[in-house]
Amino acid sequence: MSRFHDEVQAIRARYPEGSRSAALPALRLAQEKHGWLSRQAIEETAEALDVTPAFCYSVATFYDMLHLEPVGKHTIDVCTNLPCALCGAQRVIEAFESELGIHAGETTEDGEITLRAVECLGGCGYATVVAVDDRYHHSVRAETVPEIVGGIDGGT
Ligand code: FES
Repeated sequence: MSRFHDEVQAIRARYPEGSRSAALPALRLAQEKHGWLSRQAIEETAEALDVTPAFCYSVATFYDMLHLEPVGKHTIDVCTNLPCALCGAQRVIEAFESELGIHAGETTEDGEITLRAVECLGGCGYATVVAVDDRYHHSVRAETVPEIVGGIDGGT
């Protein structure tokens, strides 16, 4: 068996209620390994968990932090749900687009940064919320954007 399979078994052991509960951390592990979740990566994860690929795919499509297509080395996710929209999320996205020279949904030419508009990031009381990789920024305004980009390793 592969090292990935062994690592997934270690994750499964932490979830006595069953393999389905381990799907999210197992898919995150697969994403760390491959950079994104290709069909092959999802099938490999499903096999290691002994669940169907369709189940893993359903989990992967539910969570914004799981990528079903290639992304840059870093991801910038800007929440655009209502509370963040009311606090200027669109202006924040436009500031990132201007700073990075790309549109939301695109990756910089050097493959470093992907900018995305995403659903609620769970910090609605601190809108606008932006996630840079696994680090969350609260109360982001357009004026804050250059500092955030400058703080990214490899940022412009
Ligand atoms: S609406 Fe933006 S974090 Fe919830």
